Amino acid sequence: MDFFHYKNDKLYAEDCAITSLAEEFGTPLYVYSKATLERHWHAFDNAFGDYPHLICFAVKSNSNIAVLQTMARLGSGFDIVSQGELERVLTAGGEPGKVVFSGVAKTVDEIARALEVGIRCFNVESIAELHRINEVAGKLGKIAPISLRVNPDVDAHTHPYISTGLKENKFGVSVDQAREVYRLAVKLPHIAITGMDCHIGSQLTELQPFLDTADRLLVLIEQLKQDGISLKHLDLGGGLGVTYSDETAPHPTDYAKALLEKLQAYNFEIILEPGRAISANSGVLVTKVEYIKTNEARNFAIVDAGMNDMIRPALYQAYMNIIEVDRTLPREKAVYDVVGPICETSDFLGKKRELAIAAGDYLVQRSAGAYGASMSSNYNSRPRTAEVMVDGDKAFLIRRRESYENLWQLENLLP
Ligand code: LLP
Repeated sequence: MDFFHYKNDKLYAEDCAITSLAEEFGTPLYVYSKATLERHWHAFDNAFGDYPHLICFAVKSNSNIAVLQTMARLGSGFDIVSQGELERVLTAGGEPGKVVFSGVAKTVDEIARALEVGIRCFNVESIAELHRINEVAGKLGKIAPISLRVNPDVDAHTHPYISTGLKENKFGVSVDQAREVYRLAVKLPHIAITGMDCHIGSQLTELQPFLDTADRLLVLIEQLKQDGISLKHLDLGGGLGVTYSDETAPHPTDYAKALLEKLQAYNFEIILEPGRAISANSGVLVTKVEYIKTNEARNFAIVDAGMNDMIRPALYQAYMNIIEVDRTLPREKAVYDVVGPICETSDFLGKKRELAIAAGDYLVQRSAGAYGASMSSNYNSRPRTAEVMVDGDKAFLIRRRESYENLWQLENLLP
């Protein structure tokens, strides 16, 4: 559930009218609801009750520092995949001791910085990375806490581009090699094994792949016990899906219940890394219809947001709901392809959508709080959009719209 809703046929984010936000801050515009972010985080946190757990918000899904600050104030941990994300978390007031560091290509500098600030653990994705972390920690006189990202070879039944837990994916160490790698890790002088990690994919709409993964990891954990290796935590990654159209995604409570049934006896701390399930339906992308264009084949609603602002439909053929902001306006319904200003055929927000609109009206693309602004670019030299966080009847500008000068501020003319 989220706090975007119609009042008298006009769309609101909490108690702020979207039309007023669009007029005040301009479009395209990302609007986030603080109450929704908090509600979704608490849904995960409450689901585990008193059982030891840490919810680590996946920063990549929405890395605006005000969003991270909202999470930090709740006591959230963070899943990061780069030093950039780490610096954002620290700037936002996040606790380094609640940060887990995933990603296949951690550099020496990134590892050193993470050790310096004292993160919770590195989710190690290869033998080569394990050696590198050991070396960097040795040079700094530190012991690096690690968990191994195990690739369980489980099919997440999601889009191939966001499926990560299969042997052909680049992530983690295969479940068959993992025991050996743990045996190696235990011998390395600057490494402390603290846990086991995995992440099988994103936008999962069923629990079974998560539970199959847990079963596979438990087999490995039993083998490690025989080797005298015991773990403090088990991190099952992110991936719980959301409703974009008519999917039914499992509730965090059902997920936690099913996990606890399997894991309670082991007494590990459970770590989860949800991104989308917290942020997607906490945000919308507001856009203005610039033109209506009709030909023999199609009606086009040409809007001012493009694939540089929201790339999910172009990249994953993702369906995201598009709705009118003001349903009191007298408009005829028609079926439109909602397309952006970018010179690419893949530049669309949605196809074949029934909408009652005219040029100048505002539309909202829903579920845009995850992998929207964080994946945006300046393609076609379009300044990145502004972002606003709504809290009740107040709206805060949390990222100002880029200026044209911003587009080339890091570039130099030749002498
Ligand atoms: N942990 C790790 C190690 C991950 O790689 C990811 C996402 C997450 C957690 C969070 O997953 P979530 O709970 O958000 O599903 N851009 C794509 C999604 C890519 C996800 C990449 N990894 C999209 O827009 O659908």
